[in-house]
Amino acid sequence: MLMEPYRIKVVEPITLTDRPEREKFMAAAGYNPFNLRAEQVMIDLLTDSGTGALSAEQVAAGTRGDETYAGSPSFYRFRAEIEDLTSYPHIFPVHQGRAAERILFAATLKPGQMSLSNTHFDTTRANVELLGCEARDIPCEEARDIRSAHPFKGNIDLAALELFLRWGNVGQVIMTVTNNGGGGQPVSIENIRRAAEICRTHGVLFFLDAARFAENAWLVSQNEREFAGHSPRSVAREMFALADGCVASLKKDGIVHMGGVIALRDAGLAARCEQALIAGEGFSTYGGLSGRDLDMLAQGLREGTDAAYLRGRAAATAHLAGLLTDAGVPVVRPPGVHAVYIDAGAVLPHLPPELFPAHSFATELYLEGGVRAVEIGSLMCGTVDEHGVLVKPAPRELVRLALPRRVYTQSHLEYVAETAASVMKHVSELPGYRLVESPEVLRHFKCRLEPV
Ligand code: F0G
Repeated sequence: MLMEPYRIKVVEPITLTDRPEREKFMAAAGYNPFNLRAEQVMIDLLTDSGTGALSAEQVAAGTRGDETYAGSPSFYRFRAEIEDLTSYPHIFPVHQGRAAERILFAATLKPGQMSLSNTHFDTTRANVELLGCEARDIPCEEARDIRSAHPFKGNIDLAALELFLRWGNVGQVIMTVTNNGGGGQPVSIENIRRAAEICRTHGVLFFLDAARFAENAWLVSQNEREFAGHSPRSVAREMFALADGCVASLKKDGIVHMGGVIALRDAGLAARCEQALIAGEGFSTYGGLSGRDLDMLAQGLREGTDAAYLRGRAAATAHLAGLLTDAGVPVVRPPGVHAVYIDAGAVLPHLPPELFPAHSFATELYLEGGVRAVEIGSLMCGTVDEHGVLVKPAPRELVRLALPRRVYTQSHLEYVAETAASVMKHVSELPGYRLVESPEVLRHFKCRLEPV
């Protein structure tokens, strides 16, 4: 039975809108959901990042936050928590994940080198490319089949990893847990272990992009025989122990509105990162965060790794995936924890990738029911020429329904599934979209489109 393992103490009203209003809002937003205002959205599944609900204990911890510039006790409480999880000796707070990526990659990559990953997330890729390097994704074979129920479709392709490390100019390997760009699929400890061994043999640094480390640990404890019955926290420790360090957006599994971390084993690398941190983010004991944030994070990391919480969250995601499947909406299987991914390409065969089918489905979810989702298809991941024309489509046309932590109830999720079911009734009539404005990097955030 699904029962959220918390109750609600503070609430926020949802502004109810109707379809004609939403049509006006979407047209004014240039058909880009990132341009909508919060009040124009009824259920916001754009992201699970920074959108979680704080617990009473986190608010209390925030009140204890100490705003001393250097040496705040809030930092030491934060560091103790990260140290307990990772065992890494060098720990720096940063304002969010992408700051950690920018600082670490500038210290590990030289122009012309390659960064390898199961899948780089969009900002991770951008931070690699902005250094004049190539971000190469090598997901495992099973990841290609979105219907397969293989439990670890987030794994990296170990044979490809070995080949690239033998013949290519590789500056780092970064494993994203769970694999957000690849359908929110988890990575097994066995895969992390073997990838780490291969990297060690070739003398290449191996990091985790640990934004959803707790959800990965939960899925390992459920599906990897060696870890059956282990607590998510002990699995997380095992995972971190295999890597040379990590970068993480803590706005996900840390259940805070803002925060991130760089944690490393090597003192020399840490010293290089620390210089860039102080120059660009803030002194080493706050890194762009307030003491309040650091204390809420220390508490959030304890709650985010709690088995009852993770079990409830995974059950909610599976429930939504089940309702969608029952309504004839195909979803990536198996559902992960932070999101359900709709296979929009499969239900919109009349729209070629150049007309951004997944974007069309996401837009219609909003028009139909005020549900905001994000496209993870050719608009986000394809290659577009200088005229805004798609020249290389993404491997899949997906719509991600990301679930903020502790925010929406079962009835909200049922409303989302009903909205998707209504979209399915007229899915063959959905329009395609054409880019009218398109920035060169991270196009999906700022582009404008029009229906065709
Ligand atoms: N790595 C992964 C796997 C992510 O999912 C994200 C952010 C980042 C790095 C960057 O972290 O936002 O704190 O700078 N993902 C969000 C999302 C934005 O919606 O999936 P950040």
